[in-house]
Amino acid sequence: MKTSILKKILLGVAILYLPIQTMAWGTNGHRICGQIADSYLTPKARAAVKAILGDESIAMASNWADFIKSDPNFNYLYNWHFINFDKSLSQADMQAYLKADTATDAYTKIGFLTAQLKNKNLSKTNKLLYLRMLIHIVEDVHQPFHTGHLSDKGGNDVKVMWYDKESNLHSIWDSQMIDAQQLSYTEYVLAINHTTLAQRAIWQKATVGQWLFESNQIVDKLYLETKNGDKVNTYKYIFKNLATVNEQLLKGGVRLAGVLNQIFG
Ligand code: ADE
Ligand code: ZN
Ligand code: ZN
Repeated sequence: MKTSILKKILLGVAILYLPIQTMAWGTNGHRICGQIADSYLTPKARAAVKAILGDESIAMASNWADFIKSDPNFNYLYNWHFINFDKSLSQADMQAYLKADTATDAYTKIGFLTAQLKNKNLSKTNKLLYLRMLIHIVEDVHQPFHTGHLSDKGGNDVKVMWYDKESNLHSIWDSQMIDAQQLSYTEYVLAINHTTLAQRAIWQKATVGQWLFESNQIVDKLYLETKNGDKVNTYKYIFKNLATVNEQLLKGGVRLAGVLNQIFG
């Protein structure tokens, strides 16, 4: 009797913590990107998105793909969140790799979802599923560790101490640095959402391959600086990397707006 209660408690605790380990940008990171995207939609795209999402904002729709990881019916979506590169690739090598890519990964699925959402005859159910997934994945691939090594699950297996707590490199970039700012997602957006038309045009012109190349270039340097078992100097790490985090959040949001404007504009 006692052991069965204990087992249930342990299982409950395990279930609570399991998904957290492998989440994408944390809830705030995703919402920040989503809210930024919303601010750059054309009126036509905004209306089309609203027709699909209803009263769910892009910011709030951004986390659906992580929340449904708790439902085994959606296990097939697991590999859509990232694309692994085991070493840094030149831009040409990356292009060649992606051209031949037929795996289930963030790259092929961004292509799939974009094409599907252009189809006016798509069922209502699929429109909602595909839009929520596209929003989430475009955001995800701007988190550098979503283009990291397969061998350590994009940094999830690089265990480090963070403020004297056990964490991992992936989680630091998904959530820890963002959460340490102690801002709501709307406050965060107010703080970082400053762009010029010229800057947005450059970011939105980049191909998905270029987004992945940029993320992979960033992650490659990050892998060199932090190793499994390190005790991270938290304040120094945030000071050094926050500008990169913020630029990736901003690029993710601006590019998501570009993709949605292109699909629905
Ligand atoms: N989350 C879980 N597995 C992952 C991987 N291989 N790369 C990036 N993120 C992940
Ligand atoms: Zn994700
Ligand atoms: Zn992640």
